[in-house]
Amino acid sequence: MRRHTSVETKYHEERDAFLKGLRGLDRRAFLKVSLAAAAAAAASGVRFHPHSFQTVSVAGAATSKVEPFTFAYISDAHLYRRELNDRFVRQLLRAVDDVNGLDPAPDFVLFGGDLAQLGAPEELDLGAQILKSVKPPVHMMVGEHDWYLDLGDKWRALFGQETYSFDHKGVHFVVLQSVVEKDFWTARGMTPEERMHTVAGLDNGIQSRFEVGEPQREWLKQDLGKLPVDTPVVVFSHSPLYKYYRPWNFWTEDAEQVQAILKRFAHVTVIHGHTHQMLTNRIGNIHFHGMLSTAWPWPYAPEGLPKLTIQMNRPDPFNPNDGLGTGTVDVQANGMVDAVYNLWNRNPIQVSATYVSSNGTQNPPAPATLTSY
Ligand SMILES: [Fe+2]
Ligand SMILES: [Fe+2]
Repeated sequence: MRRHTSVETKYHEERDAFLKGLRGLDRRAFLKVSLAAAAAAAASGVRFHPHSFQTVSVAGAATSKVEPFTFAYISDAHLYRRELNDRFVRQLLRAVDDVNGLDPAPDFVLFGGDLAQLGAPEELDLGAQILKSVKPPVHMMVGEHDWYLDLGDKWRALFGQETYSFDHKGVHFVVLQSVVEKDFWTARGMTPEERMHTVAGLDNGIQSRFEVGEPQREWLKQDLGKLPVDTPVVVFSHSPLYKYYRPWNFWTEDAEQVQAILKRFAHVTVIHGHTHQMLTNRIGNIHFHGMLSTAWPWPYAPEGLPKLTIQMNRPDPFNPNDGLGTGTVDVQANGMVDAVYNLWNRNPIQVSATYVSSNGTQNPPAPATLTSY
């Protein structure tokens, strides 16, 4: 006899199968859930292509020792425990598929922070498990949503130190923990959960502003101190290393002090997460690019938007994947980068080094292809 099921029942059955598949997440199970996520995207009319991530390319000048290359990023997945929300899990799987589908493969993938939503060990474990399926090497960065339940214990156990640097094809890369907050919890007698929930709130007057802080600034000075001034430097930070909008912590309190440390280098780019939107800035010779989220897009703040920003359209509220994606970064021979925003159901948008260094007069990005809703 033919079995009739309602849309809701079908959905719950698929969801159960999907979550069951995640439990083991060996290679075969991963492929199964990835394919399920892709099929869901296709069924919803969303264009699925292997470029749904942002790329950043690093390029070099004639005298530079940089061999141009590309890396990719995935950022701000905000995973809840799987019983609470599987949508963000699907979206992260989609991003992993996109990056794995890149041809040629990127040299590495940066994860831009906020892997978890409330810093819970189950959330971080789930994220670590999914990111194991990324084929290129992954460099991890921490976000405030990963940190404020246990102040980094679980994150460090999974991924190692949060502040570090590495060299790749002539470029010096630095990864910072830029979401340090002053202790607002002890005097208030807050539990770790209360502390985490406070930091996770967007418009929250209790918490302090993010900062890199003096110990890390000293480390940065030491780390960069040995480098000649013509070494291209790319800094990864979770919060923007400038001041955009204070009430939402789209802000780093000691940004100017960090910029001062970077100032002596001729080719410096900062790539950050946290703001969940296309964002471009230039301060002195430092270029800044914000990364897309795989979870949700934030609206633009009511003031403080950097003028070089090419705004993405207001996402379609009926399409949960709109305004999301990943990216690639093309590193040029002079060490500066072209950032490509691979929005999931729109054409990719490239924000080039030339556009930023010419203050917007040359090589402007192609306008977005779909109207706002
Ligand atoms: Fe985030
Ligand atoms: Fe964040």
